[in-house]
Amino acid sequence: MRSLALSELLLTELQRTESDAAVAAPLNRRLYLSLRGAILSGRITAGVRLPSTRDLARDLNLSRNTVMSAINQLTAEGYLTARQGSGTFVSQTLPDLGPLTVPVRSRRQTPAPDVQDGTPRELSQRGALLTAQSGAADLEVQPFAPGTIEFAEFPIQLWQKLQAKYWRSLDRNLLDYGQQGGYMPLRAAIAQYLSLSRSVRVTPEQVLITSGTQQSLDLAARLLTDHGDEAWVENPCYWGARRALQAAGLKLRPIAVDAEGIAPSAADWQQGRPRLIYVTPSHQYPLGHVMSLQRRRALLQFAARQRCWIFEDDYDSEFRFGGRPYASLQGLDDHAQVLYSGTFSKVMYPGIRLGYLVVPADLLPAFNTGLYDLFRPGQLMLQAALTDFITEGHFNTLIRRLRVAYQARRDELARRVQRCLGDRVQISGQESGLHLCLLFRAEDAVDDEAIARAADAQGMTVRPLSRYFLSAPRQRGLILGYAYVPTERVPPWAQKLCQLIRDQLPG
Ligand SMILES: Cc1ncc(COP(=O)(O)O)c(C=O)c1O
Repeated sequence: MRSLALSELLLTELQRTESDAAVAAPLNRRLYLSLRGAILSGRITAGVRLPSTRDLARDLNLSRNTVMSAINQLTAEGYLTARQGSGTFVSQTLPDLGPLTVPVRSRRQTPAPDVQDGTPRELSQRGALLTAQSGAADLEVQPFAPGTIEFAEFPIQLWQKLQAKYWRSLDRNLLDYGQQGGYMPLRAAIAQYLSLSRSVRVTPEQVLITSGTQQSLDLAARLLTDHGDEAWVENPCYWGARRALQAAGLKLRPIAVDAEGIAPSAADWQQGRPRLIYVTPSHQYPLGHVMSLQRRRALLQFAARQRCWIFEDDYDSEFRFGGRPYASLQGLDDHAQVLYSGTFSKVMYPGIRLGYLVVPADLLPAFNTGLYDLFRPGQLMLQAALTDFITEGHFNTLIRRLRVAYQARRDELARRVQRCLGDRVQISGQESGLHLCLLFRAEDAVDDEAIARAADAQGMTVRPLSRYFLSAPRQRGLILGYAYVPTERVPPWAQKLCQLIRDQLPG
């Protein structure tokens, strides 16, 4: 095939794709598809030499970069072969991919012979333990699902603009792995935010950017504890924490919670030998209590005596409705034994998968290495956009807006529930955060799992409190997230839910 004929063929193909919505794509992509289509259909045969990129660019009236991008892609995929000094040719053997429009069928895999008798293949003991119970957080984006937020308040266009800025300028360093704890300007912005709003004692170097609380916990547990060590967790406890600590091979010791937060017994205080203590002091998850100053001091003294670590999960303290947020536990600690964890899941959105872990200074080299070697973190583009979001003041503005919106939703929900159920339920933990807890009276022996199932059937997600306890007695109640339902839509949903609950209450 002569060069000119080939160029003409491609020109016709390109013009044809101009009106084809499926390939209404950048020119390099369209040229790639045209050339690949011509090769696959045999209109350009194996062994044909392509015109030079300069000639093709001229004939097709495209930039040379556009042509080179398409040719490079086809060469990388094996459709074309570049021969040093003599040009680029259509390959003799085409890659075994077929056109994109042909569905790809993969061959079925059959288990190895020794498991063909139907014996299920075994998980590890750890895997079996982790998957024995279904998660508390089967993802349901429905009214009352704790941890689910609504995006009406989120400045989506601004967020798009900030991200687009970095993709346009394309700093290649931001496409690399995130070494040394993440994007330093973000770490500095977080350090400043935490020291001002949460009284955390922190330098930018101490802030490690993680993919959220789950990864922060995983990293802390792997680096600071050994398999079989004891970890204290609140009872009831955040499901995610329980999973991460179990996955690290820790023996979990459930510690009761009272109105002042985690409440170890006298024996626990005297004889307990935990290696790590997981707590949610600002807003106990799920009951919502705030840890008292006295309890905070006692816990810090205990940790200093026992030389154990405290993991402070400060997951939603931005949403404190009455007055200023309480200072962090980390800020009270004189012995650098608290690891402070925060997340962007609540203020930004859960799928952002960005959080931070404030690590005592002497642990930094180990945590930097651990984070990098175990997880190969990245997402620097996203981190850069988030930095601007914080430093330009949008983060604080958003928090203020969300506080107003969520407080109104919470008030409406609490009012409706109280009006409907009166003293048959007690509402706990509503001073801050994105959820509240309905507690049933023990004598009513309500089946909270049954209510959760019935609610699900009606398009609502409520979590049964009993599921969050590691040991008996398991208090019955419901965890209700209020961040997802706009205030004006709360009444009908609350009414539906209250009716369900009433159906389950005796008498
Ligand atoms: C107690 C607690 N910690 C942390 C988180 C957030 O976890 P992540 O940062 O992994 O999204 C949640 C989310 O619901 C939570 O309830």
